[in-house]
Amino acid sequence: MQKYVIHGGKPLSGTVSISGAKNAAVAIIPAALLVDGVCRIENIPQISDVTLILRILQELGAGVHLVNRHTVEIDSRHIASFRVPDQLSRKMRASYYLIGSLLGRFGRAMVSMPGGCDLGTRPIDLHLKSFQALGAEVSVESGYVHATAPNGRLHGAGIYMDQASVGATMNAMLAAVRADGTTTIENAAKEPHIVDLANFLNTMGADITGAGTDVIRVRGVKSLHGGAYSIIPDQIEAGTYLAAVTAAGGDVVIQNVIPKHLDCITAKLEEMGVQVEEYGDSVRVVRRGALRRTNIKTMPYPGFPTDMQPQIAACLCLAEGTSVINEGIWENRYRYVSEFRRLGAHIQVDGKIAVIEGVERLTGASLRACDLRAGAAMVVAGLAAEGTTEIGCIHYIERGYEKLVEKLQGLGADIRVVDVPEEDGQQADQAG
Ligand code: UD1
Repeated sequence: MQKYVIHGGKPLSGTVSISGAKNAAVAIIPAALLVDGVCRIENIPQISDVTLILRILQELGAGVHLVNRHTVEIDSRHIASFRVPDQLSRKMRASYYLIGSLLGRFGRAMVSMPGGCDLGTRPIDLHLKSFQALGAEVSVESGYVHATAPNGRLHGAGIYMDQASVGATMNAMLAAVRADGTTTIENAAKEPHIVDLANFLNTMGADITGAGTDVIRVRGVKSLHGGAYSIIPDQIEAGTYLAAVTAAGGDVVIQNVIPKHLDCITAKLEEMGVQVEEYGDSVRVVRRGALRRTNIKTMPYPGFPTDMQPQIAACLCLAEGTSVINEGIWENRYRYVSEFRRLGAHIQVDGKIAVIEGVERLTGASLRACDLRAGAAMVVAGLAAEGTTEIGCIHYIERGYEKLVEKLQGLGADIRVVDVPEEDGQQADQAG
C-alpha cells in the first residue's frame, strides 16, 4: 500500500496536460462490445478503472491490444459470453454499461450489481426501466441483473427519464443502438461524455441524434462496423487542477481541455477572485490575492458538477467569509468533511447542505481518502495547507487520475508517493 506525502503551502506554476475523460472511457470501452469489427480508441486515460474494464472485456473473450499507453484496439467479433464475472464488475460503478452493451449485442446480459464509490444509495432502477421499455425482461437475482430480450431482439421505444441520470441515459443508448426501430430518450442527461459516447457510436455506424440536448433519438441499425475514435479530455481532472491552483495559488496553463466544458466551474472560480483565460484547447488559471466566498449548488450539466464539489469545498475552506454548498445529486457526499477538519477547516453539514467558514490557513495532517473525488479534494487541500499532509488509501484516487503525482510535481508541488508498511495499510483500510 502507498500514501501521498505533501509539503504544502507553495504556489503552483507551469503547464499540465489533461488526460482522456474517465467517465467517457468507461462507457465507450464497453460500447466496443456492440461492434462487429476492430475499434481503435485513442486518448484513453491510464487509470485503474480503465484497466479493470479492459480486463472484463478480455474475460468476455474480446481481443484487447494496447497499441501504446493511450490507445487500445478492441476486437469483439468472437465474444460468446453475456455473463460478466462477479469479482471484477463489483469493483466499479460503471460496470453497469456492460448490461446495456451485452443486451444490445446478444439480447441477453447477466451482470453483477455494480460497485463503486459510496456516495449514498446508488439505485439503477432507471437503467432497468429503460431496458424493460425496449422489451427486455429484467430481474435481479442473487446479486445479478438478468436482462433478456424475448426472441433475442429489442425494439425501439419511448423512454422518459424520471431523473436526468447520466448512466441510465448512456445505458439506454447502448441497448437501443442495434434494436429494431427508433428509440426516443426524453429528459436525457446532457453531460459531455454522453455526447462523446454518441459520437463514438455514430463513428462506428450508429444513427444517434440529439445527444447533448434533453431529447436523444436513436434509430436502430443492424450492425456497427470498426473504426477509430479519440476520447474527449476529462472535465473533472481539468477542474481538479483549476481547484489546486485556486487553493494553493499560482499561475498554471492547463492544456488539452475543451474550455466550454469548464465554464460551469470557471464561472464560480471567477466569482472567488480567480482569473481564468480561455484559449483554443487550453485555459490559464491565475490566483494571487485572497479568495472570496461563494455559494455552490451541484446540478446536472451544464450546472456545477457534483464530481467537483469536494475540490471546490477545499478552496472555500480558505475563502474570506461564509460559503454554502448545496449537494443536489448525491445524499452522502460530505464524507471528506471530518478529514478537512483535521486540517483546521470550519465546516458544518446538515443533510445536503454544508456551511463553510473560511479560515486564514490550513495546517497539514494525516488524512485518509474515502472515495475518488474526496481523495482528490484532500490533495487540493494538502497542497494549500502549511506543513506536511499525508493521504492514505490512495487507490481511490488512482481510479480516476492519471499520473497525479508526476503532473503536480511538474507544477512545482512537493508531493511524493511513499510505501506504507503492510500492517499500517491494513489498519487504515479496515478503519475506512
Ligand atoms: C455518473 C458519474 C458520477 C457522477 C454522476 C453525476 C460515471 C461512471 N459516474 O454517475 O461520477 O457523480 O454521474 O454526475 O459516469 N438515480 C436514480 N436511479 C437510477 C440512476 C440514478 O435514482 O437508476 C439517481 C441517483 O441516485 C442520483 C441521480 O440519479 O441521485 C444522478 O445519478 P446518475 O446521473 O445516474 O449518476 P451515475 O451515472 O451513477
